[in-house]
Amino acid sequence: MGVCTLRIDGHDLAVAQGSTVLAAAREAGIPIPTLCQQEGLSTVGACRLCVVEIEGMERPLAACVTAVAEGMQVHTSSPRLREIRRTVVEMLFTEGNHVCAVCVANGACELQDLAVQVGMDHSRLPYRFPSRSVDLSHPRFGMDHNRCVLCTRCVRVCAEVEGAHVWDVGWRGEHCRIIAGLDQPWGAVSACTHCGKCVNVCPTGALFQRWEP
Ligand code: FES
Repeated sequence: MGVCTLRIDGHDLAVAQGSTVLAAAREAGIPIPTLCQQEGLSTVGACRLCVVEIEGMERPLAACVTAVAEGMQVHTSSPRLREIRRTVVEMLFTEGNHVCAVCVANGACELQDLAVQVGMDHSRLPYRFPSRSVDLSHPRFGMDHNRCVLCTRCVRVCAEVEGAHVWDVGWRGEHCRIIAGLDQPWGAVSACTHCGKCVNVCPTGALFQRWEP
């Protein structure tokens, strides 16, 4: 495989052709925030937290789905990018019901960590407070749609690693949500192997383990 040389934040790098900008940055120890990206799974470029600026490109691009190119000049942390990332995190918080104090993932939540990372101590956007369902039909796990950020990690790990393909994305726009089976209660989907991989990769408290006596 050939090698590609590029510059990220002033660092000259040589990486394998076909690598993504995110992989190249990580190899060089340059941090780029991510949310939907998960090692070992396909990339979908859903959250846009990993946006970077590439000289010659008008718009920022998602580093996790952008392949490196010879001579590329990448910037990962300009004021414009920091503003975009903060706004993305604000939108995720205000679009759902992320009340950390009563969340099972409090203290171990990637969205919470991202808020700290991007300096979001309050939201400049109005909260929508949607009324979404909680699925407790599964004997071991639960799904709280109020806390789902639609990263689709659960969909991908179930299909690509477990091979069960229990999860999918249903509906559109503000009604878009993760569905089990053919939009059935999770507990009614016989394809579920109860492996818990979806729960393990969930970045928030949307998918959680139920207390078992
Ligand atoms: Fe790149 Fe989500 S991590 S778009």
